[in-house]
Amino acid sequence: MRVGIVGALIVVLLGGIAPLGAQEAVPAEAELPEAAALARARAAASGLARELLARLGAELAEGGAVQATRVCSEVAPALAAAHSKDGLAVRRVSPRPRNPAGRPDAWEAAGLARLAELHAAGELPDEVSAVVEGEGGPTFRFLKPLRIAATCLRCHGDPVGFPPELAAALAERYPADEAVGYREGDLRGAISVTVPLAAVSAGAE
Ligand code: HEC
Repeated sequence: MRVGIVGALIVVLLGGIAPLGAQEAVPAEAELPEAAALARARAAASGLARELLARLGAELAEGGAVQATRVCSEVAPALAAAHSKDGLAVRRVSPRPRNPAGRPDAWEAAGLARLAELHAAGELPDEVSAVVEGEGGPTFRFLKPLRIAATCLRCHGDPVGFPPELAAALAERYPADEAVGYREGDLRGAISVTVPLAAVSAGAE
């Protein structure tokens, strides 16, 4: 299993592929399946992050925290599903999930642990990625870290400060909730994107 910073991955890939003195034979970066997968993963992750924040802001302003939990519980999975197409899969994961469905798989857990280390060192990257052997052959894996902003604290901060109706709604829906007690700036989790390289190659033909 490799967890690399994307820039480094691309350099490694290009470096590994390019024969010395035959630069003109190297395919343009965009034609490499890894690079195409990276571009698609980035687009899907930023699209999901942007739309979620916009919806969350709107619902919080309109109906407050209890109504806004709907964004995280219904809108987020629906948006993630909408961005999951042509073999690409998008979801949100956290080492301390609220919904058990957000529990990371082995690669995601290792990636989140690495992100946490880098974050602690003040070097949180925008993304990490790797090509791993998946069920359907080589698979591009990608994580875009999500940090806690002030707005997130309303539902992921210290539960002592939660209004009773919010605390009750969360307790009823998420009895195993681990996603409280965060502080602003904390690493909350990541948007995880999986792209089988075969899907990218097929799409490019
Ligand atoms: C209005 C309440 C609310 C706010 C504000 C909120 N969340 Fe959530 N969050 C939830 C709920 C509810 C879930 C569980 C969603 C589900 O059932 O899939 C959740 C789930 C998540 C997950 C998926 C993993 C998991 O723990 O289940 C991530 C990641 C996440 N939130 C990050 C954030 C970030 C980052 C912010 C701030 C930008 C934020 N949330 C703001 C209520 C909220």
